[in-house]
Parts: sequence; C-alpha cells; structure tokens
Amino acid sequence: MQPGVDPADISSDPESASDRAPKWWQSTSIYQIYPRSFADSNGDGIGDLEGIISRLDYLADLGVGAIWVSPFFTSPQRDVGYDVADYRNVSPEYGTIDDAQRLIDEAHARGLRVLFDLVLNHTSDQHLWFVESRSSRTNPKADWYVWADARTDRLGRHRPPNNWRSELQVERAWRWCPEREQYFLASFLDFQPDLNWRNPAVRAEMFDMVRMWLGRGVDGFRLDIFGSIMQDAALRNNPPLPTVVAGLPRLQRPVHTLNTTENFELAADLREVCDEFGPGERVLLGEVFGDEDTLARYVQVGDRPGLHVVFLFEFLHASYSAKRYRSLIERFERRFPAPQQPTYVVENHDRARSMSRLGGDERKARVLATLMLTLRGIPVIFQGQEVGMTNKYIPLREAVDPIPRVFRRILHEPLNRRLPERLNRDEVRVPMQWSDEPGVGFTDPDVTPWLRYGDDAATHNVSVQNEDPASLLNLYRELYHLRREYPAIAHGSLELVPVDGGDEVIAYRRGDPDQPEAGNVLVVCNLGDTGAAHRVEAGAAMLVRTDDSVALVQGLNDERWLNLPPHSAAVLSGSVLGGAPHRR
Ligand code: NOJ
Repeated sequence: MQPGVDPADISSDPESASDRAPKWWQSTSIYQIYPRSFADSNGDGIGDLEGIISRLDYLADLGVGAIWVSPFFTSPQRDVGYDVADYRNVSPEYGTIDDAQRLIDEAHARGLRVLFDLVLNHTSDQHLWFVESRSSRTNPKADWYVWADARTDRLGRHRPPNNWRSELQVERAWRWCPEREQYFLASFLDFQPDLNWRNPAVRAEMFDMVRMWLGRGVDGFRLDIFGSIMQDAALRNNPPLPTVVAGLPRLQRPVHTLNTTENFELAADLREVCDEFGPGERVLLGEVFGDEDTLARYVQVGDRPGLHVVFLFEFLHASYSAKRYRSLIERFERRFPAPQQPTYVVENHDRARSMSRLGGDERKARVLATLMLTLRGIPVIFQGQEVGMTNKYIPLREAVDPIPRVFRRILHEPLNRRLPERLNRDEVRVPMQWSDEPGVGFTDPDVTPWLRYGDDAATHNVSVQNEDPASLLNLYRELYHLRREYPAIAHGSLELVPVDGGDEVIAYRRGDPDQPEAGNVLVVCNLGDTGAAHRVEAGAAMLVRTDDSVALVQGLNDERWLNLPPHSAAVLSGSVLGGAPHRR
C-alpha cells in the first residue's frame, strides 16, 4: 500500500516538502455541502453549522479531501445565501462566527481542508453598503456599486444605459433606483446589485475580508460567478444573438459583460492575496463559464498565476456516452496539463442530479463515480450524490428558488415539465438523506423541513447504504480511499488507452512518474449495452469493480481478460496492458 497523499496533518510545514511534491489541492477531492439542506442540529428545519460539524466524521471516513461549504454568511436568503448582507458574519439560522471557526478547526482536526464560498460579484440589496449607496448620489458609499445614468432615446424617453441583459437573459441587467434617478447593475437577480470593483475602497474592503477568513484558517474559496465581476468600462452594447438554448431564450453574446480582460487581472490580484498566506497553499476555485481557452486564461494570466483551478462544467450536461466523455477528457487533458488540474463535476446545487439524468440507472451512476474519482483532476461531488439522490419534483408555484419568478412570463408548469432541465433548483436542494427514518436523519421527525423530503429517502440514504457492502455509497468510499492509497490516481499522469472497435469502452492508464516501481493503475469502463472484454497482463489485480459480475479470467498463455458486463467499470493495479477490447 502506498502512503496517503491527502494531508493527514494539516499543520505540517509546506516548506519542508520537496518542491516537486504536489500541493494538497492538486490531489484533493472536494465535497460540496449546501448548509441549509445538510444537517439540522437545533430542530428548526434548516441545516446549520453545528449540523455540518456533527457529520465531519462521516466525511472523513468517506475519504473526501476537502469540503466546499455554500454561503452561510448573514443574508436575507432570497437566493439561499448567494445574496450576502455581511461577509464577515454568519446568518443566525446557521450559527455564529464561533461556530464557523469551530467548523474550520474541527475539519482540520480530521484532516479535511475547508473551502468557503465567496460571492464577490454582488451583495444583497439589504447589505448596509447598498442601503447607503442607493440613498443619494453623494453619500460615502455612492460609488460602491455600478451606477449609470439613463439614456434618452429618439423619442425623448428614459432608457437603460445600454442593452446588457442579466445572466438569465430574460431581464435587463439594469434596475431603476428612484432615489438616485439612476440605474444600478444587477448581473444576476434584481436584489443582487453588482459591486463596483473599479473603486479602490471596494477592492480594499473585499480583499481584507478575504484575509480575515484566510487568517481564520480557511484553505481556499469557491468563487461565485467570477467571470461576471468586471464589465466593459465604456458600457458598450453586447451584440445580439437571438437563439434558444435548452428551451430558453438567449438574446445576446455577453462579450462586454463576461470574461473581460479585467476579470482575468482580478484573478491574478486575488491570487496574490492568497499567496500572502503561503504560496500555493490556499486555493481559488473559480465558477467561470466559457470555452476551455477562455477558462485557461483565469489560471495563467499572462505571466502571473491566477486561479488555481476552474470548474469545467461540460460533464453536467454531457449525455452519457463513451465517445462524448472520451472527447471531453482529451480536451481537458490538452488544455489543463499537469501541474494544472482539470475538475470533474456531474451535479451541484444548481443543476439536475446525475442519477436523474441517467434515468435512475444505478449501473451508470457507478461508472460515473469510477470516472470522477480515477481521472486526473479534482472531483467535486455534491452532497447526496454518493447515495444516488434523485431530483424531487416540486411544482413552480411552490418554489423557494427565485429563478422561476424571473421566467414567470414565459414559463408555465407544462413547459417546465418538458424542459431538458427544469428551472426550479429546489428540486436538487432537498434535505440530505441520512436515514430512512421520519426526518430522514436531517431533522427531528415532527419538524417541517425548509424543503420537502425526496421520494427516494427510503433507499437512497446513508444509514441503509452503509450496511450494504454492495451499495453505491460503499463504492464511493472504496474509490475515495483508493485515491488516497495510490499516488498514481491522486496526482499521476493519465494516458488514454486506444480501444479499436470498442466505441463504448473508455480505458486509461494512470502512472506515478515519481514512483514508477509502484506500477500503473488501469481503469476500464464499459458504457455500452453489451458486454466487453479487455486484455490485461498476468500480474494485473482487481482493485475496485462496480459490481460482482466484473471479472478477471485467465486466457491462453499468460493472458488475462477483464470481462465487463454492460455499464460497468474496473480499476486494476499492476503493470497492466492496454490494447483492444473485444466485444463479447
Ligand atoms: C451561482 C450559484 O451557484 C447560484 O446558486 C447563485 O444563484 C448564483 N451564482 C448567484 O450568486
């Protein structure tokens, strides 16, 4: 067995490690916690920080490397915490600042790294900065947000300053403020005004807040809609692009509102702040959108280092297909070569549950789990994914999520049901399923949770799956531990093995260049509806398989064959061969 690569001792001196040793984040795995739905410790139907602390042992035992905690800062919760009213404090329903500190310390005590969620683009409209800013054009915070005068059209009517639309595109990004008789910019929703990052006072305050959390020990941040922070200073119009994507209108190309040069520079500036706490020790994970060339510009900003990692979201939408997945892996490998790390994410708090996208086929979910945890890169797993939680259908009229209201003019229930991905994000945010008991282990049985429980809680829960060695949860656990045991998986190289005639098979070899004697790891996944076989060397040994019918059998001479039934995968160790898989 190889020594673990995830940090067991968070306090170890990074300088003492050799320069070539990977930084902790290069081999970590991230588990996303959505605090409101994770664990409720005080019986108010809302998850809280104490609830998270009470489940840290579970996460450590599962084998995750780091937790990313969605926002729990002071907020009116109109966008479930992504509307912050005080970045330096905690919303009372989640706990106190001392609880946040305990969360960091207790996680560290268990060898878990901690990422908080930074919403730098906008605040809540109830943030005192905005309350002051909107009150007049002359107050001390007057320039803390993006304000602009109305434009007068040919008929003398007042119009917004330009044609920019919000990220959802069905609304304008400019909102009228009667007190100032000016528009303010809100790139996402109307109650989330954009901060003015060109104002040095805003930058100084936000960077100081970042330092405050780093000083308290957080290991890094997930950066919310980071690509939207800086818009064109000259307020040029975006070019029109009337089209429909996933059943919804897209009206313009956001060339002046997304991924502007100043956004890349901001990434490098923020990196400098993090590096004050030890170069490369604190990590920035950007939620940015665009093609891979654009995303790569956030990581290397000219000659300056930028964000450590960016989300690659294509697996969130990609159809389950070996061809599609293989081409994405190739692209990610090409654009984010070592020591950079691609990220693999198949679900989060905004998008459909992967098990639902896979039509509830657990065999496919097992193949996805194997891919995510053995590819070269950082897997980001959403709470409940490890037990295969599915979407809970919640009608639009019951939505807590503010997004359906934005679409109310064009969206009705029958259309919502037909959309490739429904708009009510509540459906993926239902309480984490810890057990099959009333309250699903999330809260007290007689308490009404903030969102309804899922329909699959009887089977897709932690305590039932813990007891079943063949469960999805135990497969995740095996894979997480395998990453820790094999440096080749955690941070080794990746080489796709050509598979002639095996269109439905993906095979790749992971090797640890620093420890060639440790041998390779071979991963073979069959995404086809028929069985497949793959030749491996005599010494190959099975490390993990997605179910009992995956088998290694002796062939002629010294050959061994890996037999993979439909939708199954195996991880093998040894000096394994690639080669052509044979359909059987
Ligand atoms: C992206 C977050 O993931 C989403 O939940 C949120 O609503 C928007 N950013 C706005 O902050």
